[in-house]
Amino acid sequence: MTERDGGRRPREGRSGTVPDDADAGVRQSVDSPLPSSLVPLEARRLSVHFGNRSALDCVDARFAAGETVSLLGPNGAGKSTLLKALAGILPPSHGEVRLHGRAVRRPSSAIVYVPQRSGVDWGFPVSVLDVALLGRGLRRSRFAPLGGRDRRDALDALERVGMRHLAAVQIGQLSGGQQQRAFLARALVQDGAVYLLDEPFAGVDVPTQELLVGLFGRLRDAGKTIVYASHDIAQAVASSDRIMLLNRRLVAAGPPARTMTEANLRAAFGGQAIVPVASSAAS
Ligand SMILES: Nc1ncnc2c1ncn2[C@@H]1O[C@H](COP(=O)(O)OP(=O)(O)OP(=O)(O)O)[C@@H](O)[C@H]1O
Ligand SMILES: [Mg+2]
Repeated sequence: MTERDGGRRPREGRSGTVPDDADAGVRQSVDSPLPSSLVPLEARRLSVHFGNRSALDCVDARFAAGETVSLLGPNGAGKSTLLKALAGILPPSHGEVRLHGRAVRRPSSAIVYVPQRSGVDWGFPVSVLDVALLGRGLRRSRFAPLGGRDRRDALDALERVGMRHLAAVQIGQLSGGQQQRAFLARALVQDGAVYLLDEPFAGVDVPTQELLVGLFGRLRDAGKTIVYASHDIAQAVASSDRIMLLNRRLVAAGPPARTMTEANLRAAFGGQAIVPVASSAAS
């Protein structure tokens, strides 16, 4: 069985109560009335510098349970940097990330991070099943060996992404889309509250795209938070509850129909020709 259905249509979910500001230069309020149980992940005035260069400047963002948020912006906008900072992989220069109200300072099993495929060393001699089992690694004590239950869960996750028949294959021998599926299996095994994915749709075929959209829909329906970076504007508009436009700073965030205005797109992408999907007057 593979997961190819569901999740196509963005919905007005709990995310609808997260305040959004669609105007350039205005950041999301951090004073949402939602309790932290419904807003598992928060960035507060988050800045990341590399040397004296700023990659991310004072980003405030709240991510609700049960919503899918896509992160759009030009190359170098800080999308990957934001995802790594949210995942506790990259320490912020200023500000902080909070998960259920507690500061995130290192990777945690509750936050699943799926890196950009191009940033991964695929020469590593591990099988597809090993990759899926890595998702269990963060959940277990360093001294507890992986057992039969872990293996069954990993095989089940591989089944869900249509990869069980390739469980014994070395990861480096897979196609790009198959590697992405193996990473998804690892993410499913980890079973966190928040899923952060860096360009999961890049370079994958239509069935894999459909699988991803279906999986995101199911995770969202299970109350998970999904945040992913993308360059596919049409796809993000079609299947996200909210869009965040980023260009080092948060330019705008909100439902696609309110966020993808000409003014916001120009603020995020500069002079690049991108067709708005919302009128500036839309609210
Ligand atoms: N490890 C690093 N060392 C120095 N500079 C870095 C590092 N990682 C990212 N940067 C810089 O931070 C800025 C943001 O990079 P980032 O990778 O977050 O952008 P992005 O929005 O993900 O871009 P893309 O769409 O190309 O993936 C860029 O100017 C980049 O050069
Ligand atoms: Mg990136």
